[in-house]
Amino acid sequence: MISTMMPSPDNIRDPHLRRNRKGMPLLPGGYGRSAYHVGKEPPYAVHGEGWRMWDDNGRELIDANGNFTTLIHGNAHPEIVEAAEQAIRTGASWGIPNLSEWDLAETMLDRLPGLDQIRFANSGTEAVMSAFRIARAVTGRDGIVMTKDGFHGTSDFALLASGPTKGVARSAESDVTLVPLGDIDELREVFQNNPTKYAAIILDLLPNKAGLLPLSKEFVEEARALATAHGALLIFDEVVSFRLGPNGLGGRMGVLPDLLTAGKVIGGGFAIGAIAGRQEYMSILDPWSPESISHSGTFSGNPVSMAAGVVALQLLTPAEIERLNSLGDNARAEANAVLNAHGWEMRGLGSLLRPFPLDARQLDGETQRRLWWAAYENGVVLSSANLAALSTPMGEQVVHDFTDRLVGAVIKTAEGAE
Ligand SMILES: Cc1ncc(COP(=O)(O)O)c(C=O)c1O
Repeated sequence: MISTMMPSPDNIRDPHLRRNRKGMPLLPGGYGRSAYHVGKEPPYAVHGEGWRMWDDNGRELIDANGNFTTLIHGNAHPEIVEAAEQAIRTGASWGIPNLSEWDLAETMLDRLPGLDQIRFANSGTEAVMSAFRIARAVTGRDGIVMTKDGFHGTSDFALLASGPTKGVARSAESDVTLVPLGDIDELREVFQNNPTKYAAIILDLLPNKAGLLPLSKEFVEEARALATAHGALLIFDEVVSFRLGPNGLGGRMGVLPDLLTAGKVIGGGFAIGAIAGRQEYMSILDPWSPESISHSGTFSGNPVSMAAGVVALQLLTPAEIERLNSLGDNARAEANAVLNAHGWEMRGLGSLLRPFPLDARQLDGETQRRLWWAAYENGVVLSSANLAALSTPMGEQVVHDFTDRLVGAVIKTAEGAE
């Protein structure tokens, strides 16, 4: 007979399956994402409002993590909530196209002069995977050039940016070529050695994992020239950096890619990814064409992410981007005036900030985790890699308070205190 008793922590037969720690052992390590890992059991988020969040210890925090830079309008922005609620009430997902997808396509392409068409996905990872596939289908080649220690999501090819990793198909390795960040000579050599191997060069213009220093315009322009000369596509991965300019960071640099991947901020806090590009390449996805390749996804272009994204981008006016970026610049200057004497610096660009030791090679995982906890104790939530992202509900006073608290945490970490 089938038992009707519902499993609960008290009636699960195997006592090892009882939870001794939050999330344990139902989630491996207690986590639903590896990126949550901060060395010790982390707090749980229970409520968010604007730039504030509260955890299950009742602690009020400045949310400088913003779901890893996604929540550019803070938590539960009323206009975004209203748009999402309205979309949910009307039907959260359908199996034929919806009008909000069209609206977001228009909103995005208005911001991307030179790019003609767009497809939506559910994450930045998916967007990058699709961009690679488009580049391969268009060029008939397999090779991808990436910068060393870039981050382009968690697909097999993208993970190879940090070298071979357990679980990643070995067959992918021969197709990925890594170039040291900013090394123009090496980039040229890669194409000299194999002029017809590469389908694409992918660049994250502000690579967080590699140190949160923007790529130089010279390097980006050389990538543009080499891609054009050798029939490869240039992809800008703006999943994080799109927030930095009305047309993304590529727009600020004045360089046009063939394809651009976006995510995070463009979904208003809901799952999203996007591949925008020139029509001559994007048309490979056109199902009317006998040559077309497939790109789908049950939740791609769902009306909730689309409607929330439209409002998020409407709220993210050029003036708001400029205000947020200058708040970031001021915070960096304010922090550096204190931190340099302690052997640290605040790096980043515009509204994205991250503390590093002056000799960035000294930064190890253990130091990052100590800094995360020191910031948390001071009332600031960072990403596990210590990246901080400002949000539009923040004004001068909040950013000053945030900077003060973060600087205090860095000094404590620099001094080796727990
Ligand atoms: C530059 C870049 N590309 C792609 C991704 C993957 O995006 P997602 O986490 O939405 O899959 C990320 C995630 O942080 C990223 O920083």
